[in-house]
Amino acid sequence: MMTDHPEPGQIVHRDADAAALVLAHQYADLNHFMMVYKFGLAEINTKISILAEELTHRGRGNPIEHVSPRLKTPASLTAKARRLGCPLTYDDLRSRIRDIAGIRIVCSFTSDVYTVADMLTRQPDVNLVVKKDYIAKPKPNGYRSLHLIVEVPVFMSDRVVAVPVEVQIRTVAMDFWASLEHKIYYKHDPEVPAALRAELAEAAEDAARLDQRMERLHREIHGPRR
Ligand code: GTP
Ligand code: MG
Repeated sequence: MMTDHPEPGQIVHRDADAAALVLAHQYADLNHFMMVYKFGLAEINTKISILAEELTHRGRGNPIEHVSPRLKTPASLTAKARRLGCPLTYDDLRSRIRDIAGIRIVCSFTSDVYTVADMLTRQPDVNLVVKKDYIAKPKPNGYRSLHLIVEVPVFMSDRVVAVPVEVQIRTVAMDFWASLEHKIYYKHDPEVPAALRAELAEAAEDAARLDQRMERLHREIHGPRR
């Protein structure tokens, strides 16, 4: 029988539809927001692949051991925004969070780290925004890496977007240390005992010495890279 009042089941049904619609819109907005970062990351990734392949063909030896691109997940994006006190609007996220697109380039030798950074930032469509050299000046915990924030233009149908990408460049030894430090640190969350922290920093020095030794051996055997 028809009444002015919907059946209880109908209300639930309509609310669920409305909620699903809102979710679908939010999901579409988020996808749209993330899209340019995905494209910017793909551009940098292609640039790195070109360098690696071309250097191999020129017989200069490929300075790149491996590359891992990653996009921040919505969970880690919102967690970082909360940590920074950044409001959860797309405009704020866009201007305050510069590592939504990130790529890690692992090189053979320390000199390769700087060579790759130079080759990348010399390209006219790559705009270097920030450079943090944690190799020249390691973090107090021993962390070493060269960090760049670069902007690359992404050509959309109706506009050009300068997309920031965080580029971390390090050697195999630095990467080995950083990966394990990350695991050790997280297992002892929130505080790592001071003695363990000191030993971790010492291990980073060991890794740095190993890098210097391998670089010297390589130079003595093959001469400096051309
Ligand atoms: P984030 O908020 O973590 O992005 O730091 P930031 O904006 O101050 O930039 P920073 O250059 O210090 O670090 C950026 C990224 O480098 C981090 O997200 C990590 O991936 C890496 N990183 C920095 N410090 C450490 C460290 O001490 N240990 C490890 N394992 N990774 C680090
Ligand atoms: Mg980060």
